[in-house]
Order: sequence, then structure tokens, then C-alpha cells
Amino acid sequence: EEGMNAQDLGKLLHREPAEIVKKLFMLGVMTNQNQSLDKDTIELLAAEYNIDAKQKVHEDISDIDTLYNKRMEASKKSKNQVKRPPVVTIMGHVDHGKTTLLDRLRHTHVSAHEAGGITQKIGAYQVRLDNRLITFLDTPGHAAFSNMRARGAEITDIVVLVVAADDGVMPQTVEAIDHAKSAKVPIIVAINKIDKPGANPQHVTEELMKYNLIPEDYGGDTIYVNISAKTGQNVDDLLQMILLQADVMELKANPTEMAIGTVIEARLSRGRGPVADVLIQQGTLNIGDPIVVGDTFGRVRTMTNDRGRQVKKATPSEPVEITGLNDVPESADKLVEFKDEKTARSVGEARAQQALQKSRENVQHVTLDNLFDTM
Ligand code: GTP
Ligand code: MG
Repeated sequence: EEGMNAQDLGKLLHREPAEIVKKLFMLGVMTNQNQSLDKDTIELLAAEYNIDAKQKVHEDISDIDTLYNKRMEASKKSKNQVKRPPVVTIMGHVDHGKTTLLDRLRHTHVSAHEAGGITQKIGAYQVRLDNRLITFLDTPGHAAFSNMRARGAEITDIVVLVVAADDGVMPQTVEAIDHAKSAKVPIIVAINKIDKPGANPQHVTEELMKYNLIPEDYGGDTIYVNISAKTGQNVDDLLQMILLQADVMELKANPTEMAIGTVIEARLSRGRGPVADVLIQQGTLNIGDPIVVGDTFGRVRTMTNDRGRQVKKATPSEPVEITGLNDVPESADKLVEFKDEKTARSVGEARAQQALQKSRENVQHVTLDNLFDTM
């Protein structure tokens, strides 16, 4: 792929091409005005100018988001894509059994060799069925889903809508349907509590059909499973159906490139500093990788999986807890890996500075967006 050269960049940055060449030389990149530059070099340069020229890059934080989006798009076109586990959010009305279902999955669907090690709670975990993985976001409820969506983090592939068979469609059931539909995320209906004497799954199904969730038996394409989260009845079937839905969606990712991901939750740990639970979405994240996460940056110091085990790498749809950031990011922040620490640091510092300046300035010259748009 042909990148821009120093002349093009000079125009964009309102600088003499010679200055760009000199600047690059200072950064250790030998080039002339016409030689096309690779993406990393351009990132490096952009970051350098953001810092040195103290230019306001953008009103909001969208430049890392832009980079993330570009990488995401590129990955989706890559020939190196392989199947990845679906990412599932459980939603439903209060007391319909979301937590009970998540707990059951967490405790019964962890394969033997992995069991016993759940020491820390991280914001998501993986369940195994027939040697295939499913990632569940461990923040049941609408707040998590809509907050993520509000920040443009559409990380959920499938919504499991839990509806209690003895209670039926309730306000938050409808809300969940609306959320999922506006996000264009397919819904799998889990009619829960079928062990209860008053359970009437058929009635619930009929109610849900009014919301255009038509089961296959009635000529629709919505998957329904009647379960009991309490006894475990048909919970395996639910997992099978999630995997089936995932197959239909052909969920894929490219694990062979630099990682991108999204923060699920983050906090400050007394002993370990900033800690972030991230969902890796493309590429592979390794210990030592330089990363920018929202307005923070660093190098991955440790990675812990959902079993509390230390891991050296994380691949698409895998949730991991990472340390090594210089500050605590926010949930829904994007993670982007960089090739070298200097770039990550420059971009990270620029972003931190940018966040500081955000309220004070509104000059707009150069954005990473329009820089990359021309590539
Ligand atoms: P919120 O987090 O408050 O929205 O509720 P929730 O959807 O997480 O429901 P939760 O899992 O806490 O379940 C509510 C109650 O229903 C608890 O007392 C559960 O034990 C019970 N429950 C959940 N699933 C089942 C089930 O399959 N059968 C029966 N009999 N009870 C269930
Ligand atoms: Mg709950």
C-alpha cells in the first residue's frame, strides 16, 4: 500500500516539506520529500506534531477511535481471518434470572482442566461447549449495554433475552428488545424458570411474537429455548443455539496482526496500579506490547484470563485483565496496539494532553482522522 510522502504531509500539516523531512530524521527515519512513508511513520510524525506544536487534535477522543475503526475495517477484509467465539450479552427484566444463568454457566461450563481458578472477577468470561468457546459479558443488564453503545462500542454479537415463564414480557424485556434491535444485534430468547409450577412458556412465546420475535415453528427466524437457570435444564441447548447463531453470522477475526480491543471495566488497584478488563477483538495482544487505551498508554505488563491465570497472549473475543497502563482508562475506551513503545507513548501523551486541553481550546488544524483518510 502506497503511503503519503513528506510533501503531502507538509501540505496537511501546513509545514514546509523540508521541515517534515528534518523532523523525520530526528525521529530516526531517513526519507526524502517524495518517498512514500508507511503508516507507522505517519503515526509517529502525527504524534510528534501533536505534542510539539501543541495542536488541538480533535474536539473529542475520536482519533484513537478512528484508528481502531480503520484497523477493524482492514481486519475484516483480511484473508487471514479465522472463526472467533461469539460475544454474548444477557438481558432481561429484573428477577427474570440473568445472574442465575450467568452463575450457572460460569460454574458448570468450565472444562475440568480450567476449573477451580476463578480468583478474580473480570468483566467477562468464556464458557466452553464441545471445545468451542462463547464469551459472555459479565455485566448483565441494560445499563452496561447501552452505556457501551452510547460510546460507540458495539462489542456484543448476540443478545440472550431472558424472560421468566411465570412472569412474561415486562417493561425491561421490551427495553432490551428495543436496544438489541436498534443495535442490529440478533436476539436469542431464553424462556427461563420453566421448572416453576406456574410456568407458561407458550404464553410467553405468544407475547413475544407481538414484538416480531417469531420462532421458527411459526415461520420466523428467532431462536427460542426454554430453560431453567436454576436446575440447568436445557442450558446446554441454549449454548448450542448460540453457537449455531454464531455460525450463521460467520463471526471471524484476524489473529495475526496487532491487537485492537475495547475496555469493559477498569479500576485502580493498590498493588498493581491501573487495571483494565479488555475484550480483544482483532489481532493478538502479547505481554510487552505497547498500547494506547483511551487517553492512557503503556506496555502490557501482565495479562490475566477469566480463570485468574496469567497468560502471555490474548486472541480475538478473549477477555483479559491487563496491567501496565499509566492511568485508568474508562469503560468502552478503545485499545490499539502500536509497533513500538515510542509511538504508543507519543500518541498516549498527545492524547493525555489533548484531554487536558479539550475544554480550553477549540482550534482545529490537523486530525489523525484526516491524516489517515488520505491513505
Ligand atoms: P436482577 O439482577 O435484579 O435484574 O435479576 P436477575 O435477572 O439477575 O435475576 P436473578 O438471577 O437474581 O434471579 C431472581 C430470582 O429468580 C432468584 O431468586 C433466583 O433464584 C430465581 N431464579 C432464577 N432462575 C430461576 C429458574 O430457572 N427457576 C426458578 N425456580 N427460579 C429461578
Ligand atoms: Mg442480576
